[in-house]
Amino acid sequence: MLKPHFEVNSLGHLVVGGADAVELAEEFGTPLYVMDEIRIRENYRKFRRAFTRRREEIHICYALKANSNSAVVKILQEEGAGADVSSENELRLSLEMGIPGNSMVFNGNFKSTEELELAIKNDVVINVDNLQELKVIDSLAEKLKTRARIGFRVNPDVRTPTHPYIATGLRESKFGFDMSSGQALAAYRAAEGMENVEVIGVHAHIGSQILDPSPFEEEAEKLMRFVGTLKEELGITLKFIDFGGGVGIPYRPGERELDIEEVAERMISKVEQIEEDKKLEKHALFFEPGRYIVGDAGVLLARVGYVKERPGMPVWISVDAGMNALLRPALYGAYHHIELANKMNHTNDTLTNIAGPLCESGDFLGKERMLPRAERGDLAVIFDVGAYGLAMSNQHTAKPRPAMVLVRNGKSEIIRERETFEDLTRLDRIPTWLR
Ligand SMILES: Cc1ncc(COP(=O)(O)O)c(C=O)c1O
Repeated sequence: MLKPHFEVNSLGHLVVGGADAVELAEEFGTPLYVMDEIRIRENYRKFRRAFTRRREEIHICYALKANSNSAVVKILQEEGAGADVSSENELRLSLEMGIPGNSMVFNGNFKSTEELELAIKNDVVINVDNLQELKVIDSLAEKLKTRARIGFRVNPDVRTPTHPYIATGLRESKFGFDMSSGQALAAYRAAEGMENVEVIGVHAHIGSQILDPSPFEEEAEKLMRFVGTLKEELGITLKFIDFGGGVGIPYRPGERELDIEEVAERMISKVEQIEEDKKLEKHALFFEPGRYIVGDAGVLLARVGYVKERPGMPVWISVDAGMNALLRPALYGAYHHIELANKMNHTNDTLTNIAGPLCESGDFLGKERMLPRAERGDLAVIFDVGAYGLAMSNQHTAKPRPAMVLVRNGKSEIIRERETFEDLTRLDRIPTWLR
């Protein structure tokens, strides 16, 4: 069953954002990422509404790492989103798209001196990951004759049912200050003596692709108890609590959607209950969704080149997009639903493996899928690739990265050009002794 923002037209072709996928592939070539503008807006509004209905001061900072295409960021800027940035370039891009620095949070366990300086100059909130970074920020702010606005990334040790590579809130993870051993509290104490930082918040991000509301409620409870302890033990009052991102999306047909209303209800109830119990002021609440906003708004179109039949085994079809264009299946064993976009009304009667074009056995997009019998020239569509798709693509085997188009009510326009041979070699140099 397709998600509700897709249609199938009378030709049996997939329709994305009002545009026929087969025509898009003909016009723009393959492999091609297609982003649906209306779906991005819908997802953002649904997320935002769930929280703003229940609480006054909510800040949604779109996590650019999911998809930092300029047009995508522009759409979210128009919607009023702030930005969660993790690099200088994400920060600069957000500024260029019109998101003010004071609506951004800067996260990550390695922020270079130059990156921190840029963040301080633009009044971006920095979520500090370790004590050395805190000292660097303090001295940079002194040099810039300003005060840096900071929070601390803490590690609440919340178990999340997701892939270990994207579970980030466990004690053993590389991120943030450990709460249970007292290191997190010690970080706030260390900042007390510093004149050039203003400590205004606390941040956690427990992981990505979480489809169960309970870990988010546990996160809210642990962070709020910590905020209470900060007040009781150090007399520190914060302005914001940043719960990070992590809300998952269904990738498999029939997989249950995480009800964002339930997540909001359980988190906000917990926050308000503890604010009341501990007599805390009301905090601004920050969220950093990435995947939830753009994940299902993107598809990847890939041309079927060859079909290999083997007796008693699934058919192999080779398409022109592999782990270079979409890394998630190879990296995490991630599942992405696949269909043939030009044969949406055909019967799925053939057990099929979908291979990418690269010289690695791990280079496949899906295995043992029921698809219509594929032929050379068919168009495969890989769903739910709007987040961590093009963003994690690479140039393995000197394959140019795919193009991306934006569709809206049947209109389509390029938002990312396909790379060319010149792009691939532009930065290479031949040393003098080889000339
Ligand atoms: C600090 C931080 N915030 C937000 C996100 C976005 O997560 P998601 O796309 O799962 O919402 C991530 C993802 O890794 C992250 O590390």
